[in-house]
Amino acid sequence: MGRRIAVFGTGYLGATHAACMAELGHEVLGVDVDEAKLAKLAAGELPFYEPGLPAVLRRNLNSGSLRFTTSYEEAADFANVHFIAVGTPQKHGELAADLRYVDAVIESLAPLLTRPAAILGKSTVPAGTAARLAARMRSLAPASEQVELAWNPEFLREGFAVADTLHPDRIVLGLESGRGAYAEAAAREVYATQLTADTPFLVTDLATAELVKTAANAFLATKISFINSIAEVCEATGADVSMLADAIGHDARIGRRFLNAGIGFGGGCLPKDIRAFIAMAGELGAGQAFSLLREVDGINMRRRNKMVDLAREAAGGSFIGTRIGVLGAAFKPDSDDVRDSPALNIAGQIQLQGAAVTVYDPQAMDNARQLFPTLQYAQDVPTACTGVDVVLILTEWQQFVGLDPGELGTLVRSRSVIDGRNCLDPRAWREAGWKYRGIGRP
Ligand code: UGA
Repeated sequence: MGRRIAVFGTGYLGATHAACMAELGHEVLGVDVDEAKLAKLAAGELPFYEPGLPAVLRRNLNSGSLRFTTSYEEAADFANVHFIAVGTPQKHGELAADLRYVDAVIESLAPLLTRPAAILGKSTVPAGTAARLAARMRSLAPASEQVELAWNPEFLREGFAVADTLHPDRIVLGLESGRGAYAEAAAREVYATQLTADTPFLVTDLATAELVKTAANAFLATKISFINSIAEVCEATGADVSMLADAIGHDARIGRRFLNAGIGFGGGCLPKDIRAFIAMAGELGAGQAFSLLREVDGINMRRRNKMVDLAREAAGGSFIGTRIGVLGAAFKPDSDDVRDSPALNIAGQIQLQGAAVTVYDPQAMDNARQLFPTLQYAQDVPTACTGVDVVLILTEWQQFVGLDPGELGTLVRSRSVIDGRNCLDPRAWREAGWKYRGIGRP
């Protein structure tokens, strides 16, 4: 028998979590304040691109195990497990995370809780947030002594959201000190399928659970900036960072994954999470420890300027009067997300320096157009590259990796390509008469 679950927030995280919980056999109510978004979801449409998720959404809508509502009353009445899955964006003009949406869920939900329930937070929050929310919940909830708040961070990757939710590497559950039996039992029932499959289940205190998520993203960001600084040394010495990464990656302690040098990380998570981490550490008086993450952020942002410099060089020293074809706008392949996308940042900078930039992306065109309406957009690769002086590969979509350099060469004005993701085969492009330039590659 499944549990009755409410999921607050139906963005990337919430919509995926709600649909996947229904897929696991639970009865799920997705809750949001955005009626237009809910109407779309209820009609089986996702407001973002995520492979595999539409099928899961539709299947569970049709079976009746997944519904959507704006009503907190309905949710409080229906469910006894409440997931918080709202966003925690970067505050305007500050490094810290904006917690207003998380706070709003507690303010609206807690006064309606009149019987035992578990609130499981999934959003990425600074350490200390859950304890504060638990105290606030207790001052508002009529059944406050029978309601438990726990933190259950989410590690899903865009593009793999369904698989990461159904088959996570681990499940982390942070409990309030001196309480938590109800929340832990609820979580064990919610994740029964994963636990039967021997998924590691780590029960911690609240602060540890909050920090696990932030530390994981900080480590991933550090790994990318590390290899990107090695790429700078490779450039200076004529070494090849891709082969170097293969070689050091064979050491199991290092590992090859997340060691791809290029234009660096972007998206709605890694950049804002390391900044929130820096802000939090500063507030707690542990700021010095995080000069490391400032450097990680700095190295990452420098990659974008470096790419602009390489493109300018390839265009003959100045962008004025040149045409640049940009392949890729999403922050990574298999996503239509352009939040803090290195690709769009670079395209925008080049355009502002006088080039005519044409962008193509297989999925992110609408989002890119909204964020950067002044760039030119083409409906396919050939249109984006016709008559250009330089082609830039900024997102490693399979479609770009598989391009035929000979064919593309007949369209451009000059056979010059810069591979911002080191995803092309340099030999094949050079053999087809291209001037190939990678990142940290000779
Ligand atoms: C990231 C984490 O990987 C997830 O575990 C986490 O749950 C999620 O953030 C989150 O906090 O919600 P995601 O933002 O989907 O997931 O993207 P990643 O796959 O981590 O890629 C982030 C960026 O790093 C992309 O711009 C990608 O192009 C870049 N990257 C990745 C590299 O530059 N090199 C690499 O080797 C790997």
